[in-house]
Amino acid sequence: MPASRPALVPAPTQLTHRPGHFTLGPHTTVRITPGAEPAATLLRTLIAPATGLPLHPAPDGPFVLALDPGLGGLGTEGYGLTISHDAVLLRAAHLTGLLRGIQTIRQLLPAEALSHRARPGVPWHLPCVEITDVPRRAWRGFMLDVARHFQPVAFLRRYVDLLALHKVNVLQLHLTDDQGWRLPVADYPLLTEVGGRRAQSMVGPAGSDVFDGMPHEGTYTDGELRDLVTYATARGVTIVPEVEMPGHTRAALAAYPELGAVPGRRLDVWTHWGVCDTVLGVHDPALDFCRTVLDTVLDIFPSPHVHIGGDECPTTEWAASAAARERIEAEGLSGPGELRGWFLGRIGAHLMERGRIPTAWAETGESLPPEFTVMTWRDPEHTQVALKRGHAVVSGHYKATYLDYAQSASPAEPPAQPGAVVDLRAVHDHDPPDDPTTGGELLGVQAQLWTEFAPTAAHVDYLAFPRLAALADRAWHGASPWPLARARLTAHGARLAALGVRHGPFDPYIPVPHRSGEESR
Ligand code: ACM
Repeated sequence: MPASRPALVPAPTQLTHRPGHFTLGPHTTVRITPGAEPAATLLRTLIAPATGLPLHPAPDGPFVLALDPGLGGLGTEGYGLTISHDAVLLRAAHLTGLLRGIQTIRQLLPAEALSHRARPGVPWHLPCVEITDVPRRAWRGFMLDVARHFQPVAFLRRYVDLLALHKVNVLQLHLTDDQGWRLPVADYPLLTEVGGRRAQSMVGPAGSDVFDGMPHEGTYTDGELRDLVTYATARGVTIVPEVEMPGHTRAALAAYPELGAVPGRRLDVWTHWGVCDTVLGVHDPALDFCRTVLDTVLDIFPSPHVHIGGDECPTTEWAASAAARERIEAEGLSGPGELRGWFLGRIGAHLMERGRIPTAWAETGESLPPEFTVMTWRDPEHTQVALKRGHAVVSGHYKATYLDYAQSASPAEPPAQPGAVVDLRAVHDHDPPDDPTTGGELLGVQAQLWTEFAPTAAHVDYLAFPRLAALADRAWHGASPWPLARARLTAHGARLAALGVRHGPFDPYIPVPHRSGEESR
């Protein structure tokens, strides 16, 4: 019986499957062209735990990692892979393309190759294939909220590896929110000392009156975050830091109440879920604070994009603030409703002066400077509106990419964000159209995992997978008939199992009709 076609996730752009295989063994050596060494290091690092294979370098090795800047048509991340019974050739024009190809090689091996434990006795066969693979979308992201529930840096490294396996190239770290501040800032030590700990957490959705009575805390060190960046870079993953402003800042205001819009008030780190009225003030010290925090961010994270939040910013406190009224008058604004855009514009200018791209959540009816990259989430229409305004756009419509919602309507699902079901197919179907007639550019798509309902690593795994694999498949490969995509995703479950990912259901797939007319989640 011929071996079945490899079920790769994401599916490559072009794949020809031939009979036969190449066998990796203890004597297999690797020929590495100049500049390809980091790819060889990654290959060895990733496959050594399960296979124990050394893959020593040798000038005449049958396994070739070739960096060839003259190769056309592959872009930064594309690669070509030819496997025959006596040779493997992975080629790319950029190192990142080789890193992507190595993840394909890992997936072509038996699933046991992904195990963290030694798996003796498995024949390490690579099927004979000819692959040319170029991503359809440049931005294939995953946002993890470590503010609602903190996860240690070892967990983040594990996620970087999971993202890289799926060719997801952005990990957005949601580092600060009302319920916790996780980023160390030398000039403001209380941000982590006070803002990094809350007394307890709400149980159930926003508005619940039940609390768990258990403190929750956690912060990263500067060294941990720098090491994480290095780790991610070696895997071709960009860490995009997110620091929320001017709303979602209650943890910061618990540490430094004078930065708020209400003088003399003392606040706790928020123990509720939902949208908090508490916002930064618009006086100079509040803006200076944001600039100082962002200077720390820029020092740690080399990412071109720096996310400054900007979502869900109530104006009640500004409407009652004398300082806000002064600011509105001095800047010629029409009222408190224009302060959010003004604030983000000022802070965005600070980032642009330092060569970075300010990035923010798109809210209804706003106008941010066109240099901002925006992330649309509330309504699919917002993607088109933002493109027409000339923005670069990452689409994260909540009904297709918010992984804090349940993945099926089954009563067996664990507690999740109420209000929608985001099933595997809804994620895979998410493919907003680009519009070349606008001045904007659709960069790609991103999944969001807000963690009110994900207190543990196992919860995060359950919510993230397999849905993130579906997002990665669509964003890299584009459309394929759902039965085929679903079969590939289901087969991919063997790899997730080998990796110890405590994933959610593939089957039974329960279709859930999507309701229309919901403007916000
Ligand atoms: C968001 O969901 N508040 C971006």
